[in-house]
Amino acid sequence: FCADAQTVAFFATLVAAGLPPIVDLNDLVSDRAIGGTMPSFTTDADHTRSSVRDRLVNVNQSESNPYLQFALDTLATRILLCNSSSGTPTAYGVEIAPGAALPVASNFQGKAILRTENITVRREVIIFAGVFQSPQLATNGLMLSGIGNSSHLQEFGITPILDLPGVGNNLQDHDEISIIWRMKQNFSLLNGCVLQPDPAQDPCLEFWEDNGHLNAYSFGGTVEAFTSQSADSSEHDLMTHWEPAYFPGFIRGDLVSHDI
Ligand SMILES: *[C@@H]1O[C@H](CO)[C@@H](O)[C@H](O)[C@H]1NC(C)=O
Ligand SMILES: *[C@@H]1O[C@H](CO)[C@@H](O)[C@H](O)[C@H]1NC(C)=O
Ligand SMILES: *[C@@H]1O[C@H](CO)[C@@H](O)[C@H](O)[C@H]1NC(C)=O
Ligand SMILES: *[C@@H]1O[C@H](CO)[C@@H](O)[C@H](O)[C@H]1NC(C)=O
Ligand SMILES: *[C@@H]1O[C@H](CO)[C@@H](O)[C@H](O)[C@H]1NC(C)=O
Repeated sequence: FCADAQTVAFFATLVAAGLPPIVDLNDLVSDRAIGGTMPSFTTDADHTRSSVRDRLVNVNQSESNPYLQFALDTLATRILLCNSSSGTPTAYGVEIAPGAALPVASNFQGKAILRTENITVRREVIIFAGVFQSPQLATNGLMLSGIGNSSHLQEFGITPILDLPGVGNNLQDHDEISIIWRMKQNFSLLNGCVLQPDPAQDPCLEFWEDNGHLNAYSFGGTVEAFTSQSADSSEHDLMTHWEPAYFPGFIRGDLVSHDI
């Protein structure tokens, strides 16, 4: 990476433009830092990137694993709750709708009556959620499960289980507009690379597979610059991002097939 003249020049330009290097982006002191940086990645001795996803797929594929099952393209529509003997609402399962998706998802098929199934548990339900529609669905299902502002839930015929008026409130989005730049020259780091998933069609991928993962495809890193453009704020509001990947922009449902 360091030998790539254009990438080095790119980073040097950031520094010359008054953006100091951010040494560790994950350090709390870097939270609002203005500067240029490269995020850290986890790679193994074979220069292969590793991730939590890889671990989950490995466990799923392991013969000795009867426990972990993935339900892809499945919507959690409700947490099934009952009263424990102490009167505390207790989750005993999840109602799911296989094949269904949120309106923001690429596989959303339009409004439909969902066919649901119940999965019950012996021990506990652990919920991970995102931002959009999570309070409605299960912060995935909190509100549909009866957790939220009681009067609001009753307007939709949902029996309140726990009156928590804060659920679903105070969402603060950050407006984001992305501008993608086409560079005048190719980065020499990617000479001959076409960023395709088939090694027969991509000499760089073929080289990567045959030569101990030693080229830009192992890099996986990005160069990022955080700057502030607003006179009234010292927080960064502009992020410039460079990575050796084929990224045609944000295209609904099409990102994965082009990502490396
Ligand atoms: C998990 O394993 C099952 C059974 O082998 C398979 O059908 C499914 O596609 C796997 N899921 C993932 C996400 O790898
Ligand atoms: C749980 O118990 C409370 C108090 O007894 C009651 O008001 C509520 O309806 C019960 N909820 C469910 C889901 O049974
Ligand atoms: C799932 O459980 C809920 C709550 O007991 C029930 O209302 C619903 O009918 C169940 N759904 C199915 C498909 O069994
Ligand atoms: C709860 O919902 C009701 C009915 O939608 C609304 O009038 C009220 O302001 C809400 N309360 C809070 C604290 O958001
Ligand atoms: C950049 O690389 C692509 C793919 O290898 C090639 O088709 C294109 O001609 C190159 N452009 C320049 C300006 O070298």
